[in-house]
Amino acid sequence: MDRFVIKGPCRLDGRVAVSGAKNAVLPLMAASMLTGGTCTLENVPDLKDTRTMMDLLAGFGVVSSLSRGVLTIDASRISSFEAPYDLVRTMRASIYAFGPLVARFGKARVSMPGGCAWGPRPVDLHLKGLAALGAKLKIEHGYINASAGKLRGAEITLGIASVGATVNVIMAAVLAEGRTVIENAAREPEVAELARALKGGGAKIEGEGTSRVTIDGVAAIAPFAHRVIPDRIEAGTFAAAAAITGGRIEITNCDPSQLGAVIGKLEECGARIEIAESAMTVTGPERLSPANVETGFYPSFPTDMQAQIMAALSIARGTSTVVDRVYPDRFTHVPELCRFGAKIARDGNVAVITGVEKLEGAPVMATDIRASSALILAGLAAEGETTILRVYHIDRGYERIEEKLGAIGASIRRVKE
Ligand code: EPZ
Repeated sequence: MDRFVIKGPCRLDGRVAVSGAKNAVLPLMAASMLTGGTCTLENVPDLKDTRTMMDLLAGFGVVSSLSRGVLTIDASRISSFEAPYDLVRTMRASIYAFGPLVARFGKARVSMPGGCAWGPRPVDLHLKGLAALGAKLKIEHGYINASAGKLRGAEITLGIASVGATVNVIMAAVLAEGRTVIENAAREPEVAELARALKGGGAKIEGEGTSRVTIDGVAAIAPFAHRVIPDRIEAGTFAAAAAITGGRIEITNCDPSQLGAVIGKLEECGARIEIAESAMTVTGPERLSPANVETGFYPSFPTDMQAQIMAALSIARGTSTVVDRVYPDRFTHVPELCRFGAKIARDGNVAVITGVEKLEGAPVMATDIRASSALILAGLAAEGETTILRVYHIDRGYERIEEKLGAIGASIRRVKE
């Protein structure tokens, strides 16, 4: 398992280009199975999760290849309908195979994804949605077995504005008979992008990006080509890196309009952010001011930025609070940040952060994608050497992050184990 060795403190300065969005490309890859041909995706990040999804699709008989950011996916010869546990347990987004396989072939056997580092990750809303469209579901030996004739449109209200459940229902509904209306749909940009790509293949969808999405089923979805949107969480992570190091980073190939809550919170902490068309320049203050952060569903402050803002607040001048209303247990980064000397007390889904003057480099362990990036941010600001173990977590969601940070002044190197 590789590790990162970081020498801090550093003041980042320079320009960084954001890669395509992991959480946009994964549903798009699954959606290619709705078509009987070859789809092309551009601006695809070469991540561990991208490769895992390619492996998962290959198991169904899909042939895909990724070269210089262009991913072609040939779904014309699908011959298997099973998503095995050993792949699904490494990437929860494997559940996205469910909707397309049931919609196009009337069958699927997908392993339950199980939990993750911060607790249970249920899929009940995915199952309720597919059942509402007419799929017969049985859970046996940890697998979801689905069979269906032609799916039929339905009125579906999601109890929680779940990204994954919205994605799966949209993908199933585009080939169903008649109209499906999803109430309380997820509004995340990545969900809207999936709808836009499917409309390029002939799908009839209205309301994407709002909490009410209407889908009128069609007979077939033609192969589509789509350019993946920038990764708003990677952009937010680099903005937090400028804030915590008191540096100045021009973040290009991003869409600031998708980061309103993050930009607002970083400005509240004293960062100066200049917005351009598809870029933003973030300048960190000498010392950050404290703030109170609450995560929520888009466009609220994203839970995927919770660990990163907590790292920045750990050296603010005063006391801050962070509340995660999406994942109440998403705090595995807290004990690791405390190893840097941060003063963070957790009570349920609330963390109270008492800002300290400085952090000290330490050996720490990554536990999930976003927690890993928070440890990198702390290591950049800390005095001395930091070693981060299990960086395969970060490779799942950030493309060449050590190269990108090294190019703007960080002392960070990967040590291959
Ligand atoms: C997506 O996960 C993202 N993953 C996550 O990013 C992100 O944290 C999350 O949305 C929230 O924004 C991808 O897009 C691949 P949810 P997802 O369904 O779809 C509950 C990262 O770091 N829920 O919106 O799994 C759930 O427990 C990853 O890139 C149910 O109860 O999230 C949570 O409390 C981490 N039943 C809430 O809904 C269900 O059937 C939101 O989860 C589904 C979800």
